[in-house]
Amino acid sequence: ELSPIDKAKFAAARRAVDFVEDGMKVGLGTGSTAAWMVRCLGERVREEGLRIVGVPTSSRTADLARQIGISVVGLDEAKWLDLTIDGADEFDAQLQLIKGGGGALLQEKIVATASDRMIVITDASKEVVNLGAFPLPVEVVPFGWQTTRALIEEMLIATDVLGRQTTLRLNGTQPYITDEGNYIVDLHLNRIGNARALAVALNQIPGVVENGLFIDICDMVIIGGAEGQVELRD
Ligand code: A5P
Repeated sequence: ELSPIDKAKFAAARRAVDFVEDGMKVGLGTGSTAAWMVRCLGERVREEGLRIVGVPTSSRTADLARQIGISVVGLDEAKWLDLTIDGADEFDAQLQLIKGGGGALLQEKIVATASDRMIVITDASKEVVNLGAFPLPVEVVPFGWQTTRALIEEMLIATDVLGRQTTLRLNGTQPYITDEGNYIVDLHLNRIGNARALAVALNQIPGVVENGLFIDICDMVIIGGAEGQVELRD
């Protein structure tokens, strides 16, 4: 028996895979909601003989997809994707997102941007009026990361945010290492006024590889509920 939150995630995931058609190249997101989607997609592959190729957004998702029997290729082999389905940490009324709680924001953003369409699957708890209560992940190269972090903090002073604390993401006592071998600095901003401007300002800092703001990338959000109901926003 699934918990209410897993029922909601499953409902959203199940609905999202209805948008996958035979022959499609599909970006496979990362996280617990996206894992449900990979399982649902695997079921369609097995039961309907659906022919698709999946492009995973993390080593975790690649492992899961292979295990489930979905053909997996890299993005450079697929080149351009029809659809990416992924989770998110926050979304607002304009379908702008914060992602990267699971640490896979860089591959997730590259894959979603290379897709004709991105569908986000979520439960209602991730809907916000203002982005920023969830700490914003910023992927930075390990070289000089403390300098990069100081530059980020300096930039935040001139930015429309409420909080300014930053933390290096850890894995136990060591820095968390992304699939690309980088670190993640989480920004505790509480409320982001201008997410579009912040996303641009962050990526202008040398040492910043990418940030977790997904601006104008998501085309639809599917919100699942604990009773199995879904709501589509686009
Ligand atoms: C992974 O890097 C994130 O962007 C995930 O998409 C996000 O953390 C959602 O994960 P859950 O579905 O587990 O909440």
